[in-house]
Amino acid sequence: RSYPTNLIDKDWSKRKITHKNVNIQEFLDVVHDMEFREDDVWIVTLPKCGTTWMQELLWLLLNDCDFEGALSRDQELRSPFLEFKFYITQDVEESLKPVQELQSPRLIKSHLALPLLPSKLWLGTNKVIYVFRNPLDAWVSLYYHGVTTGPNYGKTLEQYMDEQVSSQEYVTEVIDHAYEFYQLRKEPWVFYTSFERMKKDLRGVINDVSTFLNKSVNEEQMERLLKHLSFEEMKKNPTTNHLWERAQHSHTTHKDAGKEKHNFVRRGKVNGYKDELKPEQIEKVNVWIEQSLKENSVTMEELL
Ligand code: A3P
Repeated sequence: RSYPTNLIDKDWSKRKITHKNVNIQEFLDVVHDMEFREDDVWIVTLPKCGTTWMQELLWLLLNDCDFEGALSRDQELRSPFLEFKFYITQDVEESLKPVQELQSPRLIKSHLALPLLPSKLWLGTNKVIYVFRNPLDAWVSLYYHGVTTGPNYGKTLEQYMDEQVSSQEYVTEVIDHAYEFYQLRKEPWVFYTSFERMKKDLRGVINDVSTFLNKSVNEEQMERLLKHLSFEEMKKNPTTNHLWERAQHSHTTHKDAGKEKHNFVRRGKVNGYKDELKPEQIEKVNVWIEQSLKENSVTMEELL
């Protein structure tokens, strides 16, 4: 894998990468060599960290605040999720087609860790936006997502949290995943932010991201953006509620998946985990988080 070893200190070449027990090595090799267009923009996150929220902002900035266009097509069609088709079909050839067939400017979403992203990113000519979120809120959110789409159907939140801290799945590499981008946050091609910051100061994030993308936003557009991106509007917007994903999952997962429905744009809270988890459970996860922070020599305050 071609990445600067001074920036990526884990030896990824020795790792066997699996997702949902599927070996994705062949797919990753294709991703590694993927061709870019000069105006491609990437959004990289772990699931449930505010991807869709940031993606909607980015798509609008890249498309001259075309609100009508945004409301008329599902977000997944406007900005595809790089790995999704592979996870569903395991067909390496087919998997990149949604991205390859997309009109420019392309906004590409991925949950892959930095060393697994295309090697051309390291040229620094394409921009990458990274969004972090407190893992406790992200995992609670992921639990409800999995209840609706299938894998967590019939599981309690408590069972799920226990599984997360002992799991080897990539979604639990939260701190490692974020820290690699955090280290690059001053690179001109990287914009690092968090769900928490978006909640605290969405206007500030919009201003900063638009500067990063060399886009200008006038006051009228800013007001429309703030409204379009508000929790209330995104909750009722059919194009930002991952209806595409439910349809795709329905034949691949639990037969009762979808019976218990949680809206994709669900609560949108910071520290919402505090009213969903028992103190002992929070403590267990916090011990795990602290360990991972220590291994990376970073604090939660810095990452947020
Ligand atoms: P919750 O389940 O905690 O509510 P992702 O897009 O990365 O999967 O992230 C989904 C999370 O972002 C969900 O968190 C969802 O509610 C939240 N979210 C999406 N749009 C939002 C918005 N406009 N304001 C606040 N939170 C939002």
